[in-house]
Amino acid sequence: MFKSAFEIRKAYLDFFRLKGHAIIPSASLIPENDPTVLFTTAGMHPLVPYLMGEPHPMGNRLADAQKCLRTDDIDEVGDNRHLTFFEMLGNWSLGDYFKRESITWSFEFLTDKNWLAIDPTRLFVTVFEGDDAIPLDDESVEIWQAQFEVHGISAETGVAGKDEPAVNTTGSRIFAYGKKENWWGPPGETGPCGPDTEIFYDTKKGHDSKFGKICHPNCDCGRFIEIWNNVFMEYEKKGDGSFVALAQKNVDTGMGLERISAMLQGKASVFDTEIFRGVFDAIRVLTGYSYGDDPIHDRSFRIIADHVRASTFVIGDSHGVTPSNVGQGYIVRRLLRRAIREGRRLGIKDPFLVKISSVVIGEFRVSYDELETNRKKILDEISKEEEKFGKTLEKGERELEKMITKGDVTGKDAFILFSTYGFPLELTEEIIHERDGVIHHDVFEEEFKKHQDSSRSASARMFKGGLADHSEETTRLHTATHLLHRALKNVLGDTVSQKGSNITKERLRFDFSWPEKMTDEQKTAVEKMVNDSIQKNLPVRVEEMSVQEAKEKGAIGLFEEKYGDKVKVYTIGDDVVDFSTEICGGPHVKQTGELGSFKIVKEEAVASGIRRIKAVVTG
Ligand code: ALA
Repeated sequence: MFKSAFEIRKAYLDFFRLKGHAIIPSASLIPENDPTVLFTTAGMHPLVPYLMGEPHPMGNRLADAQKCLRTDDIDEVGDNRHLTFFEMLGNWSLGDYFKRESITWSFEFLTDKNWLAIDPTRLFVTVFEGDDAIPLDDESVEIWQAQFEVHGISAETGVAGKDEPAVNTTGSRIFAYGKKENWWGPPGETGPCGPDTEIFYDTKKGHDSKFGKICHPNCDCGRFIEIWNNVFMEYEKKGDGSFVALAQKNVDTGMGLERISAMLQGKASVFDTEIFRGVFDAIRVLTGYSYGDDPIHDRSFRIIADHVRASTFVIGDSHGVTPSNVGQGYIVRRLLRRAIREGRRLGIKDPFLVKISSVVIGEFRVSYDELETNRKKILDEISKEEEKFGKTLEKGERELEKMITKGDVTGKDAFILFSTYGFPLELTEEIIHERDGVIHHDVFEEEFKKHQDSSRSASARMFKGGLADHSEETTRLHTATHLLHRALKNVLGDTVSQKGSNITKERLRFDFSWPEKMTDEQKTAVEKMVNDSIQKNLPVRVEEMSVQEAKEKGAIGLFEEKYGDKVKVYTIGDDVVDFSTEICGGPHVKQTGELGSFKIVKEEAVASGIRRIKAVVTG
């Protein structure tokens, strides 16, 4: 049977080769023609031009194992399921076969005794329920029903509603959901997308009612594991938000190799598979601790294993990048430094990442020979970064000692340690804590962030390199912040100036100089002004220019601060009037219409003469 990741990867490619697919090598982890994302996040990503109609030199049936990296969840890594780097198995039809073959082959590969031999009664599937513009995917429903029936699994009840429980032996296997669950893409603002059908494995774990009265495939209780996503890419999302039919109907599928391996090995976590065993053994040799013995240590094991694997692949890529303060390099730096921190937690004092990375290279070089080719570069870069960070830690610790001797260490001190010495906040907290110092974490962090925010908005250069989170939500809120800033100046007067800004996925926070509580009329006027410019769907433009030119253009910016030679200036407006012009590193939406609608949820004082607005966008 195919159990190890290596065997499963091979079986998958063999299966699709037999179905007439050309096996293509994994593309680079660094997207070549797409500046909107830092890394390749899905197998289809490098194939976008071909999904849009360009002929692929290897034909119109392709399959591969693609290296992917997702950075949204870096801070979540450490639990038992999140990964940054992973391999996605995928097969594509570029205007060739469509739903029938795609579903039938997926079912065959998963259940056939010669392939993965999964018990078909363990499988449940979901389809797109339809909306105003696009109908229920009843074609997929009918194909799935036929598949289940071949195995004697009654699916005569058709599509189950969301309020119907999933039952192992009777009832429907096919569940319909909306766009959030059963629609995929485009990977950026525009591009190919379509309804999808997802295949779930029933672990038969009991339902945890904390997650809802009934259990169903998309329930979060952990009973169902999503193993494969088949996307029927027949639409293109346009810049104005509309969907038009693509010239060709494509299939794009994705199956996470680590997850399917865990499932076939009967493991609850990807970290319990053989994929990470070599690295865990190396950490055991270094620390004397074993994986699985202590939940706190296990977390460190997992972070080290994931982060070093990811860094090894990014540095060792054919378009490899090295640790730095910008873009992809910044992510590698962050991953390696986090791994070093976790090593320290496990009591490792000497450099150790090269040992871990060597294990990764040893295990993956057969499937990814670039790791062998670039072995020296990978190990040199990792070693350099570890040395550099070691020095940072030493220097920072010395400074912190001085601060501790002087008296209470504040969030501002922590910020200085971070901005001047690159010394991590969490480390400052940890050291003070070890000295029996009491830290009010929230106050400390809030204070730290305040300094960080004003420093960030003052230094457009920092944003430029992609330090900011580039998710859709934060990008929209970022543009909303510019509109808000301008509207405040228009309503309250030009004396209003920015004192701080902070954006999460949920809301924006904007601090500005103003002596008193805003009246309801003022708030309404600001809100209306922002919403008017959203409704006008104004284009957002960006230009690079000197600080002098930016000043002449009337751009908002903290000119007393130091900028680089060139700054980016974002202008929101149409050819009649520029609403807002501001020095900023971005990113921003392309058109204000993407913001939906804007609402102030809170206006309050933060300090004397400084007010704070929290606001959200919806839609
Ligand atoms: N592109 C699809 C995904 O990433 C297959 O899930």
